[in-house]
Amino acid sequence: MKLPNINEARKRTKNEVDYIYLNQNYDEDMFKGQKYFLRTYGCQMNVHDGEEIAARLESLGFKSTDSIETADIVILNTCAIRENAHDKLYGFLGRCKHEKEKNNPNLIIGICGCMAQEEGVVDDIIKRHPYVDIVFGTHNIHELQDLLISKNEKQNIKVYSCEGNVYENISYKRDSNIKAWVNIQYGCDKFCTYCIVPYTRGKQRSRKSSEIIKEVEELVRLGYKEVTLLGQNVNAYGKELEDELSFAELLRAVSETGIERVRFVTSHPWDFTDDMIECIAKCDNIMPYIHLPLQSGSSRILKLMGRRYTKEEYLELYNKIRNTIPNCSITTDIIVGFPNETDEDFNDTLNVAETCKFDSAFTFIYSPREGTPAAKMEDAIDMKKKEERLHKLNEIINKYSLEANKKYLNKVVPVLIEGVSEKDSSKVFGYTDTMKLVNVENAQDKIGKIIDVEITDAKSFSLDGKAL
Ligand code: 5AD
Ligand code: SF4
Repeated sequence: MKLPNINEARKRTKNEVDYIYLNQNYDEDMFKGQKYFLRTYGCQMNVHDGEEIAARLESLGFKSTDSIETADIVILNTCAIRENAHDKLYGFLGRCKHEKEKNNPNLIIGICGCMAQEEGVVDDIIKRHPYVDIVFGTHNIHELQDLLISKNEKQNIKVYSCEGNVYENISYKRDSNIKAWVNIQYGCDKFCTYCIVPYTRGKQRSRKSSEIIKEVEELVRLGYKEVTLLGQNVNAYGKELEDELSFAELLRAVSETGIERVRFVTSHPWDFTDDMIECIAKCDNIMPYIHLPLQSGSSRILKLMGRRYTKEEYLELYNKIRNTIPNCSITTDIIVGFPNETDEDFNDTLNVAETCKFDSAFTFIYSPREGTPAAKMEDAIDMKKKEERLHKLNEIINKYSLEANKKYLNKVVPVLIEGVSEKDSSKVFGYTDTMKLVNVENAQDKIGKIIDVEITDAKSFSLDGKAL
């Protein structure tokens, strides 16, 4: 049994990253006729891990199901970024336990993802949730089949708290055949003081550009229209490697594969170069959309967060992007209620939100994560005040989201149509180059295509339009 350890997870000692080319073959009949239920929480990285987990389960013969009542195995792919993730996990585990006790004693229950990398969580699972069969960490996904094949009577736990390797030859069961996630880098070395990710996902490790390009070329060959390059700190790509492309150079190389749309998440303002801005401005297939987390508008709080930029530096970068890339949409993440955030600090955040008029933003109340430096900071601000701040910030964010969307009214914009709208089956939905969600009439036969759409209505979170 391999258990997680926060001190191990903190270490950054290994210079070289091991690039491991997997060559795994499994007996597809082993679990033939059995079904898996996979639930994924959290960020795009987790969603993409979910696509790997699905492929691994299918390599053993499992088929997917969307109810736990019909499943032989349930896997919960968890997120650890905020405390409420814990509530979601335990709520769902309760349902699985009930199902196992009442209806299906052979149900295999598995937990993976970022929470599986947390010392306290695994300890709790051992002591209080003996009905959980397997736990595997973010560094152990490639061992999933072996864990299932060797499943024994006891809990099978395998969570390395290591700096991590880079695995190649991974198969994915992609959720879409139109757009695809492509990992370009794993882990994070920034250690922002509030964030658990550097502990749960290990050191920053970039994939080799040759492997990334090979993957994108294959996606083009398969008919994919869009790739999103993924990394916790996507624009720090390659920095830890000698003789590797910079992120801007990688963007150009991906653009040259001819894929129709290229996106990337998540950028750190500190690693944003002029070369990147120029590249996004010049390459038509690199989408004019940048997610640029602000986190706080107060330079004092940014320093305590370990973000490596001031309010002024953020604004300078923001203006440079806006002035160089026409019609670029910029979205952000903001945390309110970091320990001892004063009214003045919070007003700085409101001011930046007023100045930037973001296209949209994810806003959060700070949530202490065990093992991170910020969790040790004393905090005199009560939750009610934090909630009021979040509410106030959201009002401004929503006002400008609507304003940004209204600029699209009566314009004709390119939309990649992805599928039938969930709310109204007479419509399809897709995204503009600037990542605006559009519900479109008259385009049932256009799924998988980029078409011109005239925008007829604008709301805070979506647009309506009709195909021309
Ligand atoms: N509390 C609240 N929000 C957090 N985020 C990361 N860690 C925390 C935390 N401890 C937010 C950041 C990040 C986004 C993915 O989640 O804004 O950009
Ligand atoms: Fe977390 Fe900061 Fe790394 Fe983003 S850059 S994953 S916020 S430590």
